[in-house]
Amino acid sequence: MGEALLPRSSFSPFEGRGKLGSIHVVSLAPGADLASFRAAARRLIAAEIPPDNIVWQTEAASLFGADTVSAEGPPLPLPRAVAELIPMVVPHRDPERYGLLYGLLWRVTHGERALMEVASDPLVHRLHRMRKAIQRDLHKMHAFLRFRRVPGEGQERFVAWFEPDHHILEAAAPFFVDRFRALEWSILTPEGSAHWDGALTFGPPGRREDVPEGDGFEAGWRDYYESTFNPARLNLDAMRAEMPRKYWRNMPETAAIPSLVRAASARAQAMIEKEPTMPAKRDPVRAVAKMAQDEPDSLDALNAIIARSEPLVPGATQAVLGEGPVGARIAFVGEQPGDQEDRQGRPFVGPAGQLLSRALEEAGIDRREAYLTNAVKHFKFSLRGKRRIHEKPTAGEVSHYRWWLERELDFVAPKLVVALGATAVLALTGKQIPITRARGPADFGRPFEGFITVHPSYLLRLPDEAKEVAYQAFVDDLRRANAMAA
Ligand code: URA
Repeated sequence: MGEALLPRSSFSPFEGRGKLGSIHVVSLAPGADLASFRAAARRLIAAEIPPDNIVWQTEAASLFGADTVSAEGPPLPLPRAVAELIPMVVPHRDPERYGLLYGLLWRVTHGERALMEVASDPLVHRLHRMRKAIQRDLHKMHAFLRFRRVPGEGQERFVAWFEPDHHILEAAAPFFVDRFRALEWSILTPEGSAHWDGALTFGPPGRREDVPEGDGFEAGWRDYYESTFNPARLNLDAMRAEMPRKYWRNMPETAAIPSLVRAASARAQAMIEKEPTMPAKRDPVRAVAKMAQDEPDSLDALNAIIARSEPLVPGATQAVLGEGPVGARIAFVGEQPGDQEDRQGRPFVGPAGQLLSRALEEAGIDRREAYLTNAVKHFKFSLRGKRRIHEKPTAGEVSHYRWWLERELDFVAPKLVVALGATAVLALTGKQIPITRARGPADFGRPFEGFITVHPSYLLRLPDEAKEVAYQAFVDDLRRANAMAA
């Protein structure tokens, strides 16, 4: 964010009434100028200046004429959802971002305090989409940025090149401070740079050529990637959507991808054939406390926690994580993994999953573009001889995993979430609601739209004569949900 790194004092907001009559012109630093926006918005709201009378400008050229530095207005008591949204929209590239945010502040402070809950309001909807774009961009930067060692004597130094889509350098940098606190590093982008040597500072733009091509550090990244690669979860399209090729150039481990992909199906088969395990008993209360303490800042980090966690009820072979691209338009939440899912480590691959895949296809939904997950992440069963018979999770077990599901959907940020069956509804609403009563569009009180339908395993249990009609109604529901998410 080069622009944002010029001295802030030259970009203090000012208001001019000259040529524009009663129009207030507010000039902000290019990039993400949260502090100046906040100060200006407080002052303008306090002065009762309506949104239509304000021009928000961020072009560098026009700023040098700025001559009036006004004081900050009194703090605005804002609903939490608004206060949290502002820093997540300010880094967006859209030149209208400040005007949109001020429009929101104006309405919230003029009688529409609960505006953020009106997901269908066009302004709220647009701001949510902008927030999601920033979340995606942050996720990509956190996941795909790679440091390289700078050759030379003396103190080791690491440099990385990255091209974010939005003005997120300042918002993204603290993550790297946490991860690489002991190293000295710089992140260069076409708009600015961040530097850490015990203190975090920002500077002018960098150039790709300033970052060394390869180093010994790369073998470490490659080994790490190879050790975490799960062949059973290989989905090339989803992988390309999640990790666009633009970032591959900067990522040493991408060299390992072709060979891992070639070996994937044999490794996946070996995993399926492996006997399921029976881990020892554990203390679920401690596990809940542990999960809540962790503060993952990406879907990968969240997945790492759940993958490490033990099942609430002993027995599952592994945690079955959600599957699909971050930013998927539509997400499906099921109940819990079944026998096949537990063995393969993927959601919806057993009989109910196959039925779901067929119905999705008929409804015109590409499964690879959707996000599929479960309310509960571990298979719970009782043994009948050698057979593992599915057992429904209790409300307590569902609530144990709710923390996880909520974070997961925050990171994926879908437009619409489909609850498949009563357990998913319980996980998304905290309430036991009969599906027959609630089927159709639903409000889960979250930033995405909601839809409730039956679980595909319910269709499998129906007598043959009822199956076809129920299946068609299910496909119709999926079509409707798809249209809502369009
Ligand atoms: N049923 C579910 O709810 N989820 C799965 O992943 C499989 C079956």
